[in-house]
Amino acid sequence: MAETAALERFEDYVSRFEQTAPEIQANIELKKAHTLRVLAEAQNIIADLGLEPDEARPVEMAALFHDIGRFPQFARYGTFQDRMSVNHGLLGYKELRKNQLLPKLSRANTKRILLTVLMHNRAQTVPGLPPGLDRMLRIVRDADKLDVIAVLLKHFDPEQPSNAIVTLGLPDDPATISPAALAQVRSGQMVRYEQMRCLNDFKLLLLSWVYDLNFRHTRKEYLKRGYVRQLVGTLPVSFDIERLEQQLLKDLWF
Ligand SMILES: [Fe+2]
Repeated sequence: MAETAALERFEDYVSRFEQTAPEIQANIELKKAHTLRVLAEAQNIIADLGLEPDEARPVEMAALFHDIGRFPQFARYGTFQDRMSVNHGLLGYKELRKNQLLPKLSRANTKRILLTVLMHNRAQTVPGLPPGLDRMLRIVRDADKLDVIAVLLKHFDPEQPSNAIVTLGLPDDPATISPAALAQVRSGQMVRYEQMRCLNDFKLLLLSWVYDLNFRHTRKEYLKRGYVRQLVGTLPVSFDIERLEQQLLKDLWF
């Protein structure tokens, strides 16, 4: 259980960025709710791994503060796109240091949390990290992905109002897919943000996250929640997409 004092500190920090217009404030609320769900997702991974409480607590803190940079980012720039504003991992790292938001922990754990926040949004896991940091970073990245997909699936629903801030302002042409993005995920690699030309490419990028999952629990949840099926269901029907779905389901199993 993440301690109440840390949760209060998180909420207090977030409240500094409150916006007067409700439709703008909704974006702050979205990230706040995302954070709390990522914490819960991380706790499930922690439970599945059977970590001891003294190992679990710093990982929980990393999950709770992983997106802290999103709040000043949105307040200053009105966007969640790092390329159009700042790297929110770096901003979070700086904010945590400046505001002393973390609870009292050992120096080693404080450093691990700061570095996890700094690196959580890298395109790929960073190779060669010390084991404690490596595990923390991998747990936060998996927990983050589990929740981001659920959030985005809601926004891809044509019945729901679209939110350009969430869908990165990408043009939604339902019939278009970039061959390069499709080829990338077909070859078992992550689609890169700069490869995206339209909303369907973003969906391919999310599907390619199958190749960046670290834990059994996360893979099981991907299958159980039907993330591949649901994402594929928002793409145009074609033989290539059908083959892609088969490939991703097979690769999730093994
Ligand atoms: Fe993030």
